Amino acid sequence: MDAFEAIRKRRAVRNYTDRPIDDAVLDKVLRHALVAPTGSGAQAWSLMVVRDAGKRRAIADLIIDGGATYFGIMRPAKEGTSPEEHQAWAKGYAEQILPTYRVAPAWVVGLLVPRGNYPERMREGGHIDDLISLAFAFENLMVAARAEGLGTVPTTAFQRFEKDRLREILGVPADVDPAIVTPLGYPPEFPKGLPPALQRNYRTWKSLVHDDSYGNTRE
Ligand SMILES: Cc1cc2nc3c(=O)[nH]c(=O)nc-3n(C[C@H](O)[C@H](O)[C@H](O)COP(=O)(O)O)c2cc1C
Repeated sequence: MDAFEAIRKRRAVRNYTDRPIDDAVLDKVLRHALVAPTGSGAQAWSLMVVRDAGKRRAIADLIIDGGATYFGIMRPAKEGTSPEEHQAWAKGYAEQILPTYRVAPAWVVGLLVPRGNYPERMREGGHIDDLISLAFAFENLMVAARAEGLGTVPTTAFQRFEKDRLREILGVPADVDPAIVTPLGYPPEFPKGLPPALQRNYRTWKSLVHDDSYGNTRE
């Protein structure tokens, strides 16, 4: 699979089998993640690979719970339902769509690791650069994984309210941010496209390209 195909066929995968991943394949994916560009050469990142069964289970539970919180906030409540009923619906929905997170053979956590190398005036922008760089590394990881037939889903929102619990599971210090996580594993099949509800309102690439002046899109 060439780079274009891997980029095109990467999809958010939320359904996994328990098929194990070869060490050599895992190493290849990780190495390709970490050749991403990094602002000021800072490498303010690390990737934590979680294969320990107990830790995987704890992360999966945390992410599924976080998914329930997310759906409770983001999805409108059905008319006439109480907040408690809506949250119970959200929990059931998260359990319905994410249960195989508990069998995925690995998780990868993208850690933002402060390197303390920005002078005061560069600090705020430097932090943003570090986060962008970590995102580049994660995109590399997801595309490389896809080329190897492995699924991923960049996950930031589901752990947003549970960062300390996640730090505790991973044993990372308070100043290290587990900014992004993904299950890593072989899906029964890759989604062919976006879910219909998302696809309906998705902007086309042509509407997002402006030629020479803002607003002059190709559509
Ligand atoms: C910054 C970022 C954060 C995301 N956070 C989550 C998340 O918390 N949970 C989740 O299931 N998907 C998450 N996603 C995946 C998106 O929902 C997904 O990429 C989007 O629906 C488009 O689908 P595609 O990746 O198949 O193109 C995130 C994606 C990005 C880029």
